[in-house]
Amino acid sequence: MPTQHNGLVVETKKVGAYIQITATAPDIPRDFKPGHFVAIAIGDDRSSLILRRAFSIYQVNDRGVYGGTVDIIVSAHGPGTDYLANLKRNDTINIVGPLGKPFSLPKEPVPCILVGGGYGAAPLFTLAEALVKRGCRVDFVLGASSQEKLFGMLEARRLSTTLSITTDDGSLGVMGRVTDVLPDLIKKSNSAVVYACGPMKMLQAVAEISQQFGIVSQTSVEESMACGIGVCMTCVLPVIGEDGVTRMLRSCVDGPAFRGDKVRWNDVGTIPEDTYGAPVIGGH
Ligand SMILES: Cc1cc2nc3c(=O)[nH]c(=O)nc-3n(C[C@H](O)[C@H](O)[C@H](O)COP(=O)(O)OP(=O)(O)OC[C@H]3O[C@@H](n4cnc5c(N)ncnc54)[C@H](O)[C@@H]3O)c2cc1C
Ligand code: FES
Repeated sequence: MPTQHNGLVVETKKVGAYIQITATAPDIPRDFKPGHFVAIAIGDDRSSLILRRAFSIYQVNDRGVYGGTVDIIVSAHGPGTDYLANLKRNDTINIVGPLGKPFSLPKEPVPCILVGGGYGAAPLFTLAEALVKRGCRVDFVLGASSQEKLFGMLEARRLSTTLSITTDDGSLGVMGRVTDVLPDLIKKSNSAVVYACGPMKMLQAVAEISQQFGIVSQTSVEESMACGIGVCMTCVLPVIGEDGVTRMLRSCVDGPAFRGDKVRWNDVGTIPEDTYGAPVIGGH
């Protein structure tokens, strides 16, 4: 069960283009599994920004003097993320979590590729640790528009057999997209699963490549969220179920990670006509 924490900011630091915030949240480390996220209140009690903002949990720490902390990575680009990026040590911060379903882990120790786009890499390091513990080979691909927007290179190197880097502008690694290096890596590492987190277009491309190779992909989507707890239906997207029927699933409680081959990427943002319970045009 998620809990609400009126916590304190323990530390903030700049990491490339991002701000890493460490905050107290005593129960979250106990309940955390890789893939969970938190929803954070913006401003004080009188803030006009009433919606919480969602952030992947980057790491947790259940030891130390603060008795349980959670770390998030913030890319400042709007009122909510700007507010968080400007928080200082000892400021208060209200956090609800852990939210969402964790990533599914393979039962067998199969090779896995982890693909992170920009700050989207944040939830992949605890996942990598869990996979390595199970005996899985882990290969990382990190991509971003430019070098300063790459996140977690040192950690990825530490946790993986190989690390591939791509940047759109060629400032580091291969010039291009993560999907330019993925097919070769799937062949070389004989991977059975690809985990991906980043922009929707990247997730779609990763899902399509994985499908071409006949392997499973788990894509962690970043749909706009309002409540974060399954009540408001803001975060729905069309996903094909085991029975072949498309349903609008809530990414905050049914995800944020979905099987890539089950998401109807080209219909995201719409309710396809054949969706279970879709409104019938011109019907009664
Ligand atoms: C599961 C999940 C994990 C995320 N993890 C991170 C992370 O680790 N680091 C990070 O910097 N950002 C992350 N995001 C995106 C982050 O929640 C949005 O960037 C943030 O809500 C934007 O708020 P804003 O006020 O700064 O910008 P605005 O664009 O003004 O946001 C206004 C509203 O739009 C919605 N919104 C806007 N952009 C996004 C977006 N990209 N994704 C989802 N909702 C959006 C939010 O609900 C917000 O309430 C995550 C989103 C989700 C759903
Ligand atoms: S954000 Fe409200 S149901 Fe998902």
